[in-house]
Amino acid sequence: MKVLVVGGGGREHAIVEALHRSQADVYAAMSNQNPGIRRRSKDVVLGDVTDVERIVSWGKGHGIELAVIGPEAPLEKGITDALEAAAIPTVGPSREAAQLETNKEFTRTLMREHQIPGVPPFWAFDNLAGFEEFVNDSDFEFVIKPLGLTGGKGVRVWGDHFSSKAEALAYGREILDKKIGGVARFLIEEKLVGEEFSLQAFCDGRALVPMPLAQDHKRAYEGDKGPNTGGMGSYSDADHRLPFLTKEDFDHALETMTKTVEAMAARGTPFKGILYGGFMATKDGPMLLEYNVRFADPESMNVLPILETDFLEVCSRLTAGNLPSGVSFARKATVCKYIVPMGYGSHPKAGEQLKVDEESIRRTGAKLNYASVDERGGHLYTTSSRSLAIVGIASNLADAESISEEALAFVSGSFYARRDIGKPEVIQRKVERMRKIREGH
Ligand code: AMP
Ligand code: GLY
Repeated sequence: MKVLVVGGGGREHAIVEALHRSQADVYAAMSNQNPGIRRRSKDVVLGDVTDVERIVSWGKGHGIELAVIGPEAPLEKGITDALEAAAIPTVGPSREAAQLETNKEFTRTLMREHQIPGVPPFWAFDNLAGFEEFVNDSDFEFVIKPLGLTGGKGVRVWGDHFSSKAEALAYGREILDKKIGGVARFLIEEKLVGEEFSLQAFCDGRALVPMPLAQDHKRAYEGDKGPNTGGMGSYSDADHRLPFLTKEDFDHALETMTKTVEAMAARGTPFKGILYGGFMATKDGPMLLEYNVRFADPESMNVLPILETDFLEVCSRLTAGNLPSGVSFARKATVCKYIVPMGYGSHPKAGEQLKVDEESIRRTGAKLNYASVDERGGHLYTTSSRSLAIVGIASNLADAESISEEALAFVSGSFYARRDIGKPEVIQRKVERMRKIREGH
């Protein structure tokens, strides 16, 4: 089957590998020359992935039979609506259903109206006077969120990014003035304390089939310090849970997502595609921080390599509205570490050469996913985004982490990676921290 994949990052390379295992003929649309994707593709078109018209006409010209959309930006532009109008079934929501990610107020309002559990107290403001009154009257810490897409960099958390009412007001004013996130309006949410986790699920408009849980690391530096990034790496455990979560946490998170999908169907805008909930495990149970309407990056690289059910069949059934009730994943732990340019998170150094000994990496058993690198004249260069990811896979987390480190040694050049991700003592600290939070310390 001829399958179009849109996007050129580590997530899309993992999608392409899964499709390759299903013997699909891959056609790729991406903005950078990702060597991993190019190698697996019958044909590639380079350019802006939000140029919907160009991609749809290229897909039609190649007789594409199914499409999988990696990033959120083309979904916001309505690429699914356009592909499906051209009779190409697409793994990805319509523009209307993509609002679960592209409009944070839409999601919060939907959750409140349908009494979906997992919503922190929230308020919306579109003028400074109203916000000023709120700030002066409030006696708790909060989070400031632009409504639309900001590449993961728009949210500011009290205590992390600002620490006074004056700074909160200044950021509120900046969002209104500059229309950060696309509109002069923003959300305020009560600040939640806990451990974050990611739940990704296949969704056919009605049914939701969960994938193994994973935990991302958004901060640039070890010990979860430094600026927020697109995600520095992630791990998942062999039992498809996370060491700091209970079975009830998982059940509650899944209930939040299932009810959201039911609410979307009830309002006549069914959600079809990959739904990814970013949750905070708190002492009061899991709370939804945000939805993404696509696979997570890096967490897609934890789940896709251990998918046992045929990926192409899952995608086809998803688009046909008849997902199987279960999708099977190997009982393996995974640790994914991103290699990024020096200075990533603030002033990334693009154009640095990286050398990758693919054969030695393969021998360690780790998977290699290329991301935003450029290949020129047979050499690899960094861009300003994440470069490539190494995924260790084993029967337990400690071994998966060791394999990721062993493989990392076969990449050379000027780069940075968070070596602490997935280390047993680091995970143990998270378990301890969560235990204390649950006990109310
Ligand atoms: P979002 O784009 O909504 O996922 O927010 C980005 C990051 O901000 C999340 O991954 C959290 O680390 C943090 N965050 C978002 N909402 C909250 C909240 N209500 N309380 C604490 N931290 C939050
Ligand atoms: N895991 C972060 C993201 O996919 O946005």
